[in-house]
Amino acid sequence: MSYEKHKANWMNEYPAIIDLAKKAKKRIPHVAWEYLQSGTGEEDLVQRNREAFQKITFLPQFCQGALAPTLATTLFGQKYAAPFGIAPVGLTGLMWPSVEHYLAATANRYQIPYTLSTVATETPETVGPQVGNMGWFQLYPPREKALRQSLLKRAKDAGFHTLLVTADVPMPSRRERTKRAGLRMPPQITPRMIWEGITHPAWTIATLRNGLPRLRTVEKYASHSNMKFVSNMVGNRLGGTLSWEYCQILKEEWDGPVVLKGVLHPKDAEKAVEIGLDGIIVSNHGGRQFNGAVTSIEALPAIVDAVGGKTKILFDSGIRTGLDIMRALSLGADFVLLGRGFVYGVAALGKYGGDHVAEILKDDLTNNMVQLGVENVRQLSGL
Ligand SMILES: Cc1cc2nc3c(=O)[nH]c(=O)nc-3n(C[C@H](O)[C@H](O)[C@H](O)COP(=O)(O)O)c2cc1C
Repeated sequence: MSYEKHKANWMNEYPAIIDLAKKAKKRIPHVAWEYLQSGTGEEDLVQRNREAFQKITFLPQFCQGALAPTLATTLFGQKYAAPFGIAPVGLTGLMWPSVEHYLAATANRYQIPYTLSTVATETPETVGPQVGNMGWFQLYPPREKALRQSLLKRAKDAGFHTLLVTADVPMPSRRERTKRAGLRMPPQITPRMIWEGITHPAWTIATLRNGLPRLRTVEKYASHSNMKFVSNMVGNRLGGTLSWEYCQILKEEWDGPVVLKGVLHPKDAEKAVEIGLDGIIVSNHGGRQFNGAVTSIEALPAIVDAVGGKTKILFDSGIRTGLDIMRALSLGADFVLLGRGFVYGVAALGKYGGDHVAEILKDDLTNNMVQLGVENVRQLSGL
């Protein structure tokens, strides 16, 4: 196993996700880093997501003899080896070509879910074989029925079994940071781009091999494969119209669990339960959509009070450590996802970078469970 070859060194050189982020920043062009890190507005929500985690503390209990935590978790009737998975990330190939394939293979090896975004740079057809039975698909809800049904069919045929529909993008947000960094669709060859290419040779070689990042899943629906037409098509035909009726239609059309991503208000959580969705994801999109929103970890307890036990509660936004996972589970989340964390891994270390992130998280979560004095993740939610 190639990861095994690197494991001891990587555990010493990059013992935490923050170390991977530092390395990723050096290895990828400025514009890719800024896109990955970006929030919206003054970006304090990205910061607040982290700070809110750091305020959550525990009262450990000792003298319980040897503890051997188990991380295995069942969600929607399927067993996962750990209570965390990989969140959907769009325009992924900008950060590193083939991220989707690498992370899908990581998910398969580690038996954790991988979510493919509608606006990823690789397709369900090529990612499906890598991900095995760990595939989830994220939908930006198309306005047209035919387009929706085509995307759902392609995802299903490729083996993706759990559907995430994203609620928290009622319109694209203003990402000032990515504008300042010069992100344009289609990418323009400017002197700065050329310089970035020269100064990040590993990224440039991988990109030349793979081709410039394209929205490969949705480009076939655009009138022209030029990126400008494809991004216009995404703006005009995907998203902006999600309603409860639409969610109900998805529940009828998708044979498998349907999960609403981006819930912060307990009333939205209650409504999702009322219409029979299988789960919700308490999330503020990693701070990328609405800078005025509450942090997702602060929103979690009221949602657990409102719908805990009636639906599955997933969580994301701001998780960087195993301890953060423990914090979210202790407040009542059933499962968590990470977006940036896994991308840092591949951008820093390449093909097996996602394996290293999974190892860090498993190790850190296990260690913190022992420090706290619990042996399984179910015990955490009773704290
Ligand atoms: C670069 C980037 C692109 C993203 N693209 C999508 C997307 O296409 N669809 C979606 O539902 N969420 C998207 N998200 C949000 C993530 O799924 C997830 O909610 C968020 O990253 C969680 O926060 P974290 O990065 O702090 O873990 C994206 C996040 C990032 C950082």
